[in-house]
Amino acid sequence: MTDVAPHPDRLSNQRKPDPCSFVIFGVTGDLTHRLVIPALYNLAATDLLPDKFCVVGVARKGTSNDALRDSLMKGLRQFATRPVDDAVAKRLLECVTSIEANPRDPASFDRLRERTEKLEANRSTGGNRLFYLATPPDAFLPISRELGRTGLLKEDGGRWRRLVIEKPFGTDLASAKALNAELLKIVDEHQIYRIDHYLGKETVQNILVLRFANGMFEPIWNRNHIDHIQITVDEKLGVGHRGSFYDSTGALRDMVPNHLFQLLSLVAMEPPARFDAHAVRSEKAEVLAAIQTQSEEDALRNSIRGQYLGGKIGDTVIEDYRKTEDVEPDSTTETYVALKLNIDNWRWAGIPFYLRTGKALGTKRTEVAIKFKQAPFAMFRCTPVDRLSQNYLVISVEPAEGIMLQFNTKVPGPTITIDGVEMKFRYKDYFKAEPSTGYETLIYDCMIGDNILFQRADSVEAGWQAVQPFLDAWKKAGAKGREFYKAGSEGPAGADELLKRDGRSWRKLG
Ligand SMILES: NC(=O)c1ccc[n+]([C@@H]2O[C@H](COP(=O)([O-])OP(=O)(O)OC[C@H]3O[C@@H](n4cnc5c(N)ncnc54)[C@H](OP(=O)(O)O)[C@@H]3O)[C@@H](O)[C@H]2O)c1
Repeated sequence: MTDVAPHPDRLSNQRKPDPCSFVIFGVTGDLTHRLVIPALYNLAATDLLPDKFCVVGVARKGTSNDALRDSLMKGLRQFATRPVDDAVAKRLLECVTSIEANPRDPASFDRLRERTEKLEANRSTGGNRLFYLATPPDAFLPISRELGRTGLLKEDGGRWRRLVIEKPFGTDLASAKALNAELLKIVDEHQIYRIDHYLGKETVQNILVLRFANGMFEPIWNRNHIDHIQITVDEKLGVGHRGSFYDSTGALRDMVPNHLFQLLSLVAMEPPARFDAHAVRSEKAEVLAAIQTQSEEDALRNSIRGQYLGGKIGDTVIEDYRKTEDVEPDSTTETYVALKLNIDNWRWAGIPFYLRTGKALGTKRTEVAIKFKQAPFAMFRCTPVDRLSQNYLVISVEPAEGIMLQFNTKVPGPTITIDGVEMKFRYKDYFKAEPSTGYETLIYDCMIGDNILFQRADSVEAGWQAVQPFLDAWKKAGAKGREFYKAGSEGPAGADELLKRDGRSWRKLG
């Protein structure tokens, strides 16, 4: 790779980040226990944490350092992705200090500042700070405002101050814009790291390498050769205990403007001039902004929404979505969505992007399937070939990370018989992957100041802009048009119809 210049630390993964303090809001929560601490542990185990480092665990109700460390250790034992080495865990947890602060109590943030500065002096972290907001979204702004007011976020004397914001970033276009505008009154864009953990996945990052480090794909990566693109994120799990959150969110808001659009933008973006954060993020934002904004009528025609009914997935019995705890019995919230989108630019004009995602489905899979145009059938017309198989290039994120090419070949024998075969590359066959939570790269990047994998304000807003017509149209339509599907099935029948009316079909599982 001579023609691209990634952040040098990110390429080699060698440099230890600058000394810093890592301040976690929501330290008592699920995300911290399940992912953030196990990711920090993995970084510690591979010697990629700063030598001078402290973790400040912020909760609204304070506890002792020992009690917090015990709780994080329990979480680590439960969620670690590799055997826990007690010495490494102890070294990491000794860096943790529990501090109480509540955005409703400004004085508590003044105390937080005092205590953090003392800790930084004791641990010689030099004053660099990363604030990780692992809290519900309604706390993002109140916490940021207090951090701004107390000066904790102010960059001075060469010391960096960064703010990591979890998803969801807004609940619609207006709220995302408002959140961006308010945050930008407190910090500069370069200080904000809007996290989407899909970008921590190797295969997702590899989409750029596949496209731009190989000469053979890009010439055919356009409307002349590609028939359409399918993006699928199917989950087996139902809503579980997250009924209250999910019922006010739904599959569209929960998955499309973030995860599915990350995949879409990497697949559809123009080649950036350089492999740096500004160039890559500009191209991603550009292609999201080119998604055609649909009228409400088109939005209804080009979308399918479904709700799961009770069923069985393997041995697990899943109850009807509307019987889930904290879900309204007459809820119309979708647990499945399929969309047809078009991108209004030179490369993709007329080429549909079909997106689908849902819960309680029969298979867990995440993939991007690029369907190439059929070869002219003419040459094989007089042979016993019924039809040519489809040419797909499939980028698989789950269950196995890899790439698959489906093409036609002659079946051995005296007659010309043609069948579709698959050529597969699986990451695990070639590389020894370190077991990870998916957050290691992202947290490491925050610490070294590489924001290439994080969403910029314009990207987030462009994503919401594209889904807003669907939100509006569905709100007006209420239950009208909502379909049902059985848990453990492939989703609502309408999703097949969406493609069938264009003479297409979803790629079947191989
Ligand atoms: N959990 C996951 O797997 C996951 C995955 C991807 C993204 N996320 C995102 O990560 C964030 C945290 O998720 P979570 O599952 O960890 O949530 P959670 O367990 O419900 O909450 C995390 C913590 O936030 C604190 N908190 C709650 N309300 C607050 C407020 N008003 N002000 C300040 N602190 C408050 C609470 O700690 P105290 O009461 O101790 O202060 C709570 O333990 C959410 O935005 C979520 O969407 C989570």
